[in-house]
Amino acid sequence: MKQIGLLLKALSLCLVALCLLDANHCVANDGEGKTLKDAYNGKFLIGVAVNTRQVDGVDSLAQSVIKQHFNAIVAENCMKSGMLQPKQGAFNFSDADKFVAFGEANNLFVTGHCLVWHSQAPRWFFTDKDGNDVSRDTLIARMKTHIQTVVGHFKGKVKGWDVVNEAIEDDGSYRQSKFYKIIGEDFIELAFRFAYEADPDCELYYNDYNMNKQGKREAVVKMVQNLQKKGIKIDGIGMQAHCTLTYPTIADEEASIEAFCRLGVKVMITELDVSVLPNPFEYNTADVNQSAEYKEKLNPYGKELPDSASQALTNRYLDLYHLFLRHKGCISRVAVWGVSDKGSWKNNFPVWGRTDYPLLFDRNYLPKPVVKKLIEAGEASK
Ligand code: G3I
Repeated sequence: MKQIGLLLKALSLCLVALCLLDANHCVANDGEGKTLKDAYNGKFLIGVAVNTRQVDGVDSLAQSVIKQHFNAIVAENCMKSGMLQPKQGAFNFSDADKFVAFGEANNLFVTGHCLVWHSQAPRWFFTDKDGNDVSRDTLIARMKTHIQTVVGHFKGKVKGWDVVNEAIEDDGSYRQSKFYKIIGEDFIELAFRFAYEADPDCELYYNDYNMNKQGKREAVVKMVQNLQKKGIKIDGIGMQAHCTLTYPTIADEEASIEAFCRLGVKVMITELDVSVLPNPFEYNTADVNQSAEYKEKLNPYGKELPDSASQALTNRYLDLYHLFLRHKGCISRVAVWGVSDKGSWKNNFPVWGRTDYPLLFDRNYLPKPVVKKLIEAGEASK
């Protein structure tokens, strides 16, 4: 028995070695040469968040997986305001330009993420030379310059923008961000107006986590209706979907998909992942401010994922994709938040330094068993 185990391990190491030699040929193959993007062709786009190392080809195995299985990409970090305009007026488009060029060269639908977000925004954005909050007019002007420079720079190339990210709390109240506190709730409509002026043909989205929560669902519906009443263009709603094996319930997620579909906008699952690790908090959130101290018992699968947990992950992904397929008429894109477990933000959130398994491809960039199942589910759906 032990010898068979060793033999299997040796074979899988050989496979990884072969993949390293010839990345384009083997990593992303599900075993039958089928791909996720083909299986979901005509249903919705199959997207993935990518980072700079993948675009540059430093992470060549991840790049192969992207090219083989996905037809849409979103920037994990390189288009956030702190990256694009670290100092006032000093725009740096080098990584973002490469990201967009990679998308164009590989015929991928390119989404920009994100124009207005309280996190990863540079300090200067909100403060004057003495470190005090700027006035409403100044912040509006800075927001306008940022949005219009960025959207204008990528006009015609970025097909959709997350214009505003995470502006509403789970209970439906407005997040007390600097944008809200200094400008007021109309910072949202102003952001959409500015983006539209810079590229009228680009799709414009509102994006948030925990969209399954009733309070947030109702507030987002109200906010979108308000924009629609005023004739402000909003094309879609992004539901991030940072999930666990049990959260959110399919029923809650479905209630939000249905509520958003009724608005007549596109619905997108934008940042899908499924954590298999224990949550040190009772509450599930993707709020980057949450963090807990590392403890061994919070990191139960440091070496490998046991079969039972792997099976649970497969089942959970299948339940979610079956839900998405039921609403394929209004869901335009389902995107996972990263290529392989190795690079997932979940390894460091909400506890730094754990080993999580939230994505579709493992640490060797090989498809997990769930990939084949998802391909079958896509093919079976008429
Ligand atoms: O770029 C710096 C690098 O210079 C430095 O050496 C390194 C040291 O830690 O940090 C690098 O920045 C990190 C950045 O990712 C790029 O790797 C930040 O520390 C780290 O905080 C940042 O995390 C990102 C997080 O957003 C920040 O808010 C995650 O990668 C990214 O996956 C995550 O994505 C967000 C979505 O944008 C919005 N929805 C929630 C989602 C998960 O938090």
